[in-house]
Amino acid sequence: MPYILCNDVFKIYKVADLEVVALRGLDLLVERGEIIAVVGASGSGKSTLLNILAGYDSPSAGTVRVGDYDLLSMTRAEVVEYRRREVGFLWQQTSRNLFPYLTAIENVELPMILAGVPADERARRSQELIGLVGLEHRIKHRPETLSGGEQQRVAIAVALANQPPLLLADEPTGELDDETGAEVLSLLNQVNRDLGTTIIVVTHDPAIATSVERAIAIRDGKTSTEIRRVVTYERKIGGTADRTREYQLMDASGRVQVPRQFIEAAGLGDRVVVEAIDGSVVLRKAED
Ligand SMILES: Nc1ncnc2c1ncn2[C@@H]1O[C@H](COP(=O)(O)OP(=O)(O)O)[C@@H](O)[C@H]1O
Ligand SMILES: [Mg+2]
Repeated sequence: MPYILCNDVFKIYKVADLEVVALRGLDLLVERGEIIAVVGASGSGKSTLLNILAGYDSPSAGTVRVGDYDLLSMTRAEVVEYRRREVGFLWQQTSRNLFPYLTAIENVELPMILAGVPADERARRSQELIGLVGLEHRIKHRPETLSGGEQQRVAIAVALANQPPLLLADEPTGELDDETGAEVLSLLNQVNRDLGTTIIVVTHDPAIATSVERAIAIRDGKTSTEIRRVVTYERKIGGTADRTREYQLMDASGRVQVPRQFIEAAGLGDRVVVEAIDGSVVLRKAED
């Protein structure tokens, strides 16, 4: 069983008399210990997906499982427990992640206080986390005296305070410049490696797709393609840039989205002939 399983997930928001379909049959599989990016334009459903995985919102239909939790059939009490034990969350707005009147270390300790972690363990763990994000020298600083990148680092420590197996990050580099954003991403990669935390980073920035092992494109509330980093031999000996390979995702019913340029090049209309030839499946223009 994969750690995260989303199958044919729909989320419909009702606004006055209108229905907004934010997710339309989304599929997603994530293994324990993976770090993936979900990349898509604004309005494609990224935040909706993360909010559902975080237990902040519930899907209208479909299957969503995270570990032992079935997110469609949880009671209110289970949702509270799920959020406390299973997930850490990182918001795009640096200010939303931290309490302005608490120091960096106090911010990291707060979720542990709420979870009833004893004082000595709290002190030990918060020091460790502040060290992990490289901010030992900023322990007593309040957020306003930290840079945007430093604030996101503290926020990562806060999100990890209660050792959640899953970390969800909604455009965590959205308010940062490129260089600082790259540092935050490399920290997330490091957290994934060192702590084994499963991480999902959501972003509208296609450049982020290449900084993780696997990136999934989301369009109109549905996952469409997957990009995997192929570690080449040159890379292993310290050479050139990574290559990536792009895959189309097929859902459980066998639906695949054919890239627009292929449809046009082959002159395909709304009816195609599907043939199996030599172990491949070929789509051909209907003749009549
Ligand atoms: N609370 C809500 N009420 C109504 N519509 C919403 C709500 N949240 C999101 N939407 C709509 O759902 C779609 C997907 O939104 P969202 O998940 O925020 O996209 P993204 O994070 O990729 O920009 C958009 O059309 C958005 O307007
Ligand atoms: Mg969003």
